[in-house]
Amino acid sequence: FGKITLSIIKPDAVQKGYVSPILYKIVHAGFHIIAIKITELSKKSATKFYAEHKKKLFFESLVKFMSSGPIVSVILKKENAVKDFRILIGETNPVHAKKGTIRNLYATSLEKNAIHGSDSNQNAIKECLFYFSNREIFF
Ligand code: CMP
Repeated sequence: FGKITLSIIKPDAVQKGYVSPILYKIVHAGFHIIAIKITELSKKSATKFYAEHKKKLFFESLVKFMSSGPIVSVILKKENAVKDFRILIGETNPVHAKKGTIRNLYATSLEKNAIHGSDSNQNAIKECLFYFSNREIFF
């Protein structure tokens, strides 16, 4: 492992029509799409997915936002996928995201930050299995 990461194009970016330019940028950066789906999180599943943030002040708002519309979840394959993808998307807060990163280009706020990337190899595997079954992943 160390070769896959889970990304989510969040409701703000999907709603604004940024799915295609974001996927173009990801593939252009050398990532291979090995699973992809458009889906929607219920409040219950968003609560489960973000369980580690349960105690944070922004948790309720985050759950509401992430269940507010369709999302696109994607499994990406590349050497050093987790690390390289976090460089490609930029800092969580778009104000601090480097020029040319996905969040710099497409995010609007700390919450509506357009895209998610797993923060560790262990979480990447956990998150991939949250969205996809084995039969939906094409190594
Ligand atoms: P991400 O890192 O993909 O997953 C957790 C999300 O919580 C994060 O993106 C932001 O969308 C959101 N988030 C993180 N910190 C804050 C914050 N201080 N206020 C509001 N939302 C936040």
